[in-house]
Amino acid sequence: MPFPTERPRRLRRTPALRRLVRETRVDAASLILPAFVREGLTRPEPIASLPGQRHDTTDSIVETAERALNAGCGALLAFGLPEHKDADGSGAWADEGAVQQSIRGLKHRFGDAIAVIADCCLCEYTDHGQCGVLGAGGSVDNDATLEAYARTAVSQAAAGADVIAPSGMMDGQVGAIRQALDAAGFDDTAVLGYSAKFASVMYGPFRDAADCTPKDGDRRGYQMDPANQREAVREALLDVEEGADAIMVKPAMTYLDVVARVRDNTDLPLAAYCVSGEYAMLRAAAATGAFDERAAVLETLTGIRRAGADMIITYHALDAACWLQEDRATR
Ligand code: PBG
Ligand code: ZN
Repeated sequence: MPFPTERPRRLRRTPALRRLVRETRVDAASLILPAFVREGLTRPEPIASLPGQRHDTTDSIVETAERALNAGCGALLAFGLPEHKDADGSGAWADEGAVQQSIRGLKHRFGDAIAVIADCCLCEYTDHGQCGVLGAGGSVDNDATLEAYARTAVSQAAAGADVIAPSGMMDGQVGAIRQALDAAGFDDTAVLGYSAKFASVMYGPFRDAADCTPKDGDRRGYQMDPANQREAVREALLDVEEGADAIMVKPAMTYLDVVARVRDNTDLPLAAYCVSGEYAMLRAAAATGAFDERAAVLETLTGIRRAGADMIITYHALDAACWLQEDRATR
């Protein structure tokens, strides 16, 4: 028999054939758009550290959501910036807080046609910028923080959030939130755990955007060491045990091995968060002409899906959803 007997190129010959045998697809419905709603704002304002993104008012977030829905995005992930911060981060569970008001407005306007995920953390609300309450000695008190997360989650669920996503990496946060939600009658509200969230340098632009840089120290006492893969599986399994409905790995691009490993070890829906620094890298490189932004973003999203993520949280969600609509047979 003449060499070669196998010719994989046969199925790469035309766009139609390539599309037919493609193993992984990116679909707008699996893309989640982060949104920042800021108290005391009278009109939306661009976010300098995240070009293309904006701070919304509790009204203008409805426009952002409408665009995302029309483009086919799967959900909105809401972050809040309060006017006043305090040591306990009490703005996080204020019934009239920006996130709570926004969720009520979104649900009033779109009902169940929109999936709203509420980020549940304290760092935007504490005057020290840590994700939890400080105990004696100035380190974050895990168990006191759990009570604050529980109150925050209940206030977000009461406002109508479909999903609560605790991002503070406290031990037991998923279980504490699940218990509190059930006790308050919100047994239908889901929990998406930020299960394996690493202490990454890639959160820089977000910390500017959400005004949540720690005043002292860093977050390495609770976020994971970037060197650890096995520990990520342990964190994910703990969240599953505690009643998580879905889990997450964050960041995404340099943690694809973690995504794959967590995928292999759990059956729950898995999200990957392509974070602010990753967005910034793609935008900055595209701006120099290194590559076409659209092609780079779609390849990146494909890689994250291929690694095993079902859902992708990305600041490119809106653009990517539109590109995917235009795309069809051309890739
Ligand atoms: C805070 C939070 C952070 C992000 C999401 N929630 C920053 C941090 O942990 O310091 C990062 C998101 C991004 O960089 O896009 N709990
Ligand atoms: Zn936080």
